[in-house]
This record gives sequence, structure tokens and C-alpha cells, in this order.
Amino acid sequence: MSRIYLSPPHMGEQERELLQEAFDSNWIAPLGPHVDAFEGEMAEYLEVGYAAALITGTAALHLALKLVGVKEGDVVLCPSLTFAPCANVILYENATPVFIDVSPETWTLDLSALEIVFKTYKPKALIAVDLYGQSCDYDPILELCDQHNVAVIEDAAEAIGAEYKGKKCGTFGLMGILSFNGNKIITTSGGGMLVSDDEELVNKARFLATQAREPVLHYEHKELGYNYRMSNLLAAVGRGQLQVLDERVQARRRIFQRYFDALSEIDGIDFMPEATNGKTNRWLTTLTIDSKKTGVSRTQIINTLEKENIEARPVWKPMHLQPLYKSCEYYTANGEDVSARLFEQGLCLPSGSNLSIDDQNRIIDIIRDTLRQ
Ligand SMILES: Cc1ncc(COP(=O)(O)O)c(C=O)c1O
Repeated sequence: MSRIYLSPPHMGEQERELLQEAFDSNWIAPLGPHVDAFEGEMAEYLEVGYAAALITGTAALHLALKLVGVKEGDVVLCPSLTFAPCANVILYENATPVFIDVSPETWTLDLSALEIVFKTYKPKALIAVDLYGQSCDYDPILELCDQHNVAVIEDAAEAIGAEYKGKKCGTFGLMGILSFNGNKIITTSGGGMLVSDDEELVNKARFLATQAREPVLHYEHKELGYNYRMSNLLAAVGRGQLQVLDERVQARRRIFQRYFDALSEIDGIDFMPEATNGKTNRWLTTLTIDSKKTGVSRTQIINTLEKENIEARPVWKPMHLQPLYKSCEYYTANGEDVSARLFEQGLCLPSGSNLSIDDQNRIIDIIRDTLRQ
């Protein structure tokens, strides 16, 4: 049987046509009409002022830190439960990451832990991560960061199409970043975007992303630049994907609901809750398995699914438990290390918007059978 992946790309005819058009036009470059159009269409979709299309979400995060002026020795906050690039970009700038725990109710930044950090540090920036498609609770976070003069960068890499209080993710904070990596809800194979209502910041991002080349005839450089701009070919694919984004969100939410209906009654299984003030895109269906109650660990379930050629994964391993970051400070709210528990018990199930109902039923049956043993 062919492999079922966690979150494979889901392409359609319009992506093929747009890509073909880009190819035929010979705009095979990190600039071109599809790049401009993709930026405009995404800004319109998000209802944000400006967007810069880049090679990856990581590049967008890196530029966001540069744009807020993060320098060597500055403290930058970030949740521990996330993917490594959020912390890596802090090291790119020789700044100091300080990690924060997440709340058990939403799996996103824990506000009380954040408050504790502000008693000790004067951070330069906060990278707020909308984990697995769930928005952080931005109103209190922005208020707190405002009081302490801390720039907020919203990492909505996993949360394209998700919402907080009726507004699209990526639009909170000074800047937002998106990822179109191959496993994301919409993809350009690799790609990212930096968005903001501040035109100057987005123009500066474009400038830094094109080798910081000064606008003169010859090649003149006053600042350190990067080669971070998105290719016109990939932007064409992105434009096609954006047209079906809302459908993809609905499909992933339906997939979540089917898993939930089939498995949530089992004692010891808890699905990632949806925050009452937001609408997650359910990028990945995630849940925890308390092996004391189920008698089976999440790793056993992953291994059993793997034998059936089905990909499932543990939840992100928290940054404070990573060898690379073990010397960094980590703040929890009430003594409980929520990130560590979610990692130990957390499971991500196949959630692609092209997952068939038959395949999903097979996954559900395998999990049920494993729990019965
Ligand atoms: C939370 C988070 N931030 C940043 C990134 C980096 O995005 P990219 O892979 O496009 O560099 C990813 C995913 O890959 C992510 O999941």
C-alpha cells in the first residue's frame, strides 16, 4: 500500500497552469510578476498592508529579527515548544534565546510565564508562535509587550488561514511570518513571507533579501545583505495554492473532527483544545496519550502505524530539552513543565487535506486496535 504522509502537498490544476505560465514567460528568477502578484494577493487575503515573498519562513524570521534591530547579547523570547528555526534565528544574530512554557489549555505561549520573565529581563523581541495552527492570545500578549517596549514577531508558519478574534493569523505584532514549506497547509515546495502594516519594514526586508544592493547603476553595498527572495516559479504555485486555502482549512478541520469523534472518548486521550477566541486551521491533528491510562505510549502508536507505512510523529521536542539549547534559561508558570509533558505524550496524526476517508478510517482502526492490546 502506498505510504500515508503526515502532511503532503495538495496541488491542483491551477497551480500547474500558473507554473506553466511562469515557465513559458521565462521569468525564472527571484523576482517577476508572480512574486509581485503573490505578495499583493496574500496581503489582501490577510488584510495586512504589505508582504515580501522570501525563500523560507526561516529567512523571514531572520529578517524580522534584523528589522527590529536585534544585536549580539540581546535577549529574544520564544516558546520552548516549537520547531528549531524560531530559536536558531536568534543565534544567527548572536543574541540570547530565553524560552517560555506554553499553556496546557492552548499549547501556545503561557502569559503568566511571560509575566515572570519580564521581572528579570528586558528583552528586545518576542517570537510568538501560533503552534500547529492555533493562534496565541494576542490581546494580553501585545499589551504586556507594549508596556515593556518589546517588539512582537508573530510566527504564523503553521497557522496560515487560522484566525484570532476574526482576524487572520500573521497580522498581529509588528511583523508576521509565514511558511510555504512542503509540509504546510499551502506550499510552494519551499517558501516564506514577511508581512506587516509598516511599509518601510517590508521594503527594508526586500532590500536585505536582495543582497542589500543600493539603488544605483553599479553594485553598491553599505549593509550586509542576503539572497532570500522567492523565485517567480514558486510564487506562481503559491498563487494557485492561495486560491484554495480556505478549502484546505475546512478539509483539515474535518479531518480533525473525524479523529476527534472516533477517539476522544478513550480514557487517556486528549486532543489539542481549540482556543475559544480563535479558529485553528488544524494544520496537524495533535493529541496526547497518557500511557498510565491507555497502557500504550505514543511511541508505540507511531511504531505500529509505521509498520503499516503510515507516517505519524511526536509533537515538537521543546527547545530547552535540545542539546544545542540546554544552557539557555527556561520559564514555566506553576512549576509544571507543560512543554516537556506535551512532548512526552504528544502525537501528530496524518492530516493532509488530500487524506481520503478510507485511509483515515484505516488509521483510526489501527490506533483503536493498538490501544486494545
Ligand atoms: C513554527 C515554525 N516556524 C518556522 C518555520 C520555518 O519555516 P521554513 O521551513 O519555511 O523555513 C516552521 C516550519 O518549517 C515552523 O513550523
